[in-house]
Amino acid sequence: MKKIKRIGVLTSGGDAPGMNAAIRAVTRLALYKGIEVMGIYNGYQGLIDGDIKQLYERDVSFIINRGGTMLYSARSTEFREWSGVLKAAASCEKHGIEGIVTIGGDGTFRGAVDLTNAGVPCIGIPGTIDNDIASTEATIGFDTAMNTVVQLVDKLRDTSESHSRCTVVEVMGRDAGDIALQTSIAVGACTAIIKEIPTDFDHVIEKMIDARKNGKRNFVIITAEGMGADYGEDLSKMIESRSGIETRFARLAHIQRGGSPTLRDRVLATQMGCAAVENLVDGQMKQVMCLRGNNIVAMDIFDALTVDKLMKGKLKPEEEETIPPNKLYEMKRIVADKQAYKNYLNYIIDHITL
Ligand code: F6P
Repeated sequence: MKKIKRIGVLTSGGDAPGMNAAIRAVTRLALYKGIEVMGIYNGYQGLIDGDIKQLYERDVSFIINRGGTMLYSARSTEFREWSGVLKAAASCEKHGIEGIVTIGGDGTFRGAVDLTNAGVPCIGIPGTIDNDIASTEATIGFDTAMNTVVQLVDKLRDTSESHSRCTVVEVMGRDAGDIALQTSIAVGACTAIIKEIPTDFDHVIEKMIDARKNGKRNFVIITAEGMGADYGEDLSKMIESRSGIETRFARLAHIQRGGSPTLRDRVLATQMGCAAVENLVDGQMKQVMCLRGNNIVAMDIFDALTVDKLMKGKLKPEEEETIPPNKLYEMKRIVADKQAYKNYLNYIIDHITL
């Protein structure tokens, strides 16, 4: 097996706390194993533009605790075209980059698959606050974002209690309701409103009115941004008019993406970064690092993308037909487990709040 001499590392898509910890782990372990590391700045666009610098041990010092990404991030329209992918592959050739560790969300992995198809094998590390990568139980940044939401909603609850109000809080997650569901449990919200599970508003309003009669002053409702742009504000008005409880709306927005990563995200990022390098050294490219239980396992990057499409309802029937039955069964099981977990969290929220 040919020994790999030089790899690249990049971050792409929305940044997430813990990306720096992953960059550090990739760089440090690769150097330890005698592999050179090229830092690619500004994601795939930076790769096309040759925005690349060699990284040494000390370049990744004192970043494990920092939010954002030291390699910066960008969404590249040029890289979406095949001509852009070829330019990126040519840039790898020019800089002697034999494989790339790509850290990001599903868009980053689609890019990694394109680059792999263009001859540059990639290994993906899931880094997004949304937790919307089907193949892994957790993505880097998810835990920190949720902790930020909890801190902020606790503050909103203080003022809600003083004024005897309801606060509708919109959290991020793109189309996924993971942040909304788990934070709803952690802040004691009356309900989480997410795309994946329909809400029975008659039931929610009835519960709120009963609880108010029993002396409850503050109410929190968490809604996921995936419900739509004006959804949260409209919902606040609807809640107020139907329940008679004064209601305010708060959109937490990008504040959820910043800040120092939690212990959990630092450890996850470090484990995934190290596993990515171990796989590269073993000649196992074209993989995505996934958390399953307490272990990091590698899943074929094409399969990871397929299971992701399946979860997001984006897998075309003609694509599904090409998947061997046992593999399709396993993919459907992963998706069903995720949905079952969401249903369970939703059940808990409904039964133990108010
Ligand atoms: O994917 C992370 C995320 O923060 C999503 O939750 C959100 O929908 C999106 O990125 C916002 O993107 P931008 O930073 O481009 O506004």
